[in-house]
This record gives sequence, C-alpha cells and structure tokens, in this order.
Amino acid sequence: MNFFKRKKNKLPFGKPLVDNREIISVANVLKSGIYAHGPILSKFENEFAKFTKSPFATTVSSCTAGMHLFYFSMGIGTGDEVIVPAQTHTATAHAVELSGAKPIFVDCYLRDGNIDTSILEKKINKKTKAICIVHFLGVPAEMSKIKTIAKKRKLLLLEDCALSLGATYNGKHTGLFGDAGVFSFYPAKHITTGEGGMLITKKKEIYNKIKIAKSLGINKSFLERSTPGFYDASDLGFNYRMNEIQAAIGLQQLKKIKFFLKTRKKNFNYLKKALSKNKDILILDSTKNNVKSSHYCMNLVLPIYLSKKRTKIIKDLNKENIGTSIYYPQPVPRMSYYKKKYGYNSKNFKNSEAISDRTISLPVGPHLRKNDLKYIALKTLKIINKFYGKQN
Ligand SMILES: Cc1ncc(COP(=O)(O)O)c(C=O)c1O
Repeated sequence: MNFFKRKKNKLPFGKPLVDNREIISVANVLKSGIYAHGPILSKFENEFAKFTKSPFATTVSSCTAGMHLFYFSMGIGTGDEVIVPAQTHTATAHAVELSGAKPIFVDCYLRDGNIDTSILEKKINKKTKAICIVHFLGVPAEMSKIKTIAKKRKLLLLEDCALSLGATYNGKHTGLFGDAGVFSFYPAKHITTGEGGMLITKKKEIYNKIKIAKSLGINKSFLERSTPGFYDASDLGFNYRMNEIQAAIGLQQLKKIKFFLKTRKKNFNYLKKALSKNKDILILDSTKNNVKSSHYCMNLVLPIYLSKKRTKIIKDLNKENIGTSIYYPQPVPRMSYYKKKYGYNSKNFKNSEAISDRTISLPVGPHLRKNDLKYIALKTLKIINKFYGKQN
C-alpha cells in the first residue's frame, strides 16, 4: 500500500507529543554545530539514570542495537543459546541471532503475555548462556522467580524494556533486575527520540564494555582524547550511538514522563472498565499488587469464535477513525525467518498464538482525551457486538 495514500486515523494508535520545548532544543543543537558526542547526550543519560534509579545509563541507536551490544560485549555467540519469549517483537530474537547464538523460544501466560516461568527453566541446558525477558506491554514479568533461576543456573539476564519505561516490580524500576535493561524511544513509545534507546545496568564493567562497543571499539571517547584525532581501537565494535539532536528531544520528553505515565494509566483504566462490560473479551493486564505497569497499550483478546472476524473488526474500527495495532502479529518462532531456520511446532506456543491470532491492540497514549476514550469504548463494544453469532 502506498504509505501516503493510506488514510490517517484521527485517533492514532501512537502519536508522539512534542511541543516548542523539543523544537527549540533541537534548533539550539543545530545552531551549536555539535551533533555527536556532545554534552546533551551525557545530560540525557544522567537524567534517565536518575529517573530509573540506575547507577549507569548509556544511550544507543535503538533497543535492538542495545540488546545486540549486550550479547556481543558479553561474548555470547555461535554455539550458545539464549532463552527468549515467543510472544514479543522480532527484535528480541533478532538481537540473539545477530550475535550468532540461537534463540530458544518459550510460551507466555495468557493473562498478561509475559514469559511462562514454569517452562523457562526446562529449556536451560549446557549451551544456555543467557535469559532475555520482555515486560509485555509494560507489565513487569515475574522478576523474583526469573532472577532466582538465572542466579541458580549462572546465566546472564537481559531485560527487554522496550515497552516498560516507568514500570516497577516491588518498587524497583524494570531493567535493574538482571545484568542490563534496554529501552526503546521509537515514536510510539513512552518517550521518543525519533529512533533510539537506552541501556541501563548496575554493573560498571558492563557499562564500560557497552560504551566502547557502541562506539567502534575505540578506547577513548571524543571528549576524553588529549590529542584531537588520536585514538586506538582496543576492540571490535559498532556505530550504535545516539546523536545529540535525538538526545535533545529525549531530554525534553523525559521531563514530561510523569504526565505521560499518569495519563496512560488513567486512559487504560477507563477503557478497561468500559470494555469489561463484554465478559467474553479478555483484557491483558497485571494481576499482582507488587507490579506497576507502564500501560503501553491495551490488548483485548477476542473469544475463539470471533477470531476469524478480527480483520473485519479492525477495519470497522479504523473506518471509525480509531487507530489499532497488533502486539504482536505472530509468535516470533512462527515468523518466516525462524520457522524456516528452526521449524515450528504450534503445540508449544498455544498462548502466544492465542494472543497473536485473536488480539486487537487499542491506544491508551497521552494523545487521547477522556472523550476520545469514551468514543473508543463505545465504538469497540458496538462493532464487536455486530459480529456476534455471525459465522462468516
Ligand atoms: C518488546 C520490544 N523489543 C524491542 C523492540 C525494538 O525496539 P527498537 O525499535 O528501538 O529497536 C520493540 C519495538 O517495538 C519491542 O516492542
């Protein structure tokens, strides 16, 4: 489909909220002439570390890049295995593949889409080097159990926090339970830098390794060089850096994070209450008191008998100007690349399939007002109702 011909929904699934503060900050960077390695990157990293209460934070060009850097820097590669959820973005598994290791997929719980910890442990063998978990749609995974397993089996633990900025487990920010956590600043996320990400860690050695690896293995950063232009490449590395323009946007966005999170929560709770009138719809959410979700979006899972109607329901919602998405459209092991390479057994991914095949993801972002939510709830219930009892 021609992107420019595609009709835009008036209530989009995701919409970055930027105003003059971001625009002025970007303009100031452009005027300064410092576009890379600058002071705003450090400021953004410091503020992010403060917000998450992380000892170390370093910007990266994307969440995928950050996860790839982690495996690369930890020496994970060919012959190794990394356990990942089946119900996630392709990026979670791609980061493992890029390192040369093999992703081992684990099914999820239907209640919240998070990795099923009872299956996870059974997948560990001599080749397993790490576990990567995802906090699905901002609901923290069972970190006490997962941390215990990782410690007992001496495995590295990476948290894919692409959707969990602001989410906590037992009062601690996601990303601080394992060896590192990586966030995404893609436009639909809690805050944006256009594209971009942040890696946080409690471990200085990991922080130092990531900083070098993201910058081509060069031992001294631009600002640390005593003789301009002189450096040594002590290691192999990538250019996975964020730039100063992106950091300027991120810094302003971060100042609004409390408002963003509060609005998301309010929107989510409103929509959940309204849609709960239909008892056949399952709404994914946290079920525990010790977790605080960051409310990325609302996944409603249709009952089995309506699954074939999903596309029609989505089309009708879009016709009413309600933007939707599907998180995520397929269990990752069923994606062509993985299916071809490793094969796929549907039996092992029942819950991931239920979510992928029967979900409609609705927006709850801070771009929506109460009246928008009212409208979304009303139309969604009405449209779903229309398809009850219809076979085709
Ligand atoms: C769970 C998850 N991990 C990773 C990513 C990739 O993030 P990025 O686009 O910043 O690489 C996404 C993107 O939506 C995601 O949903």
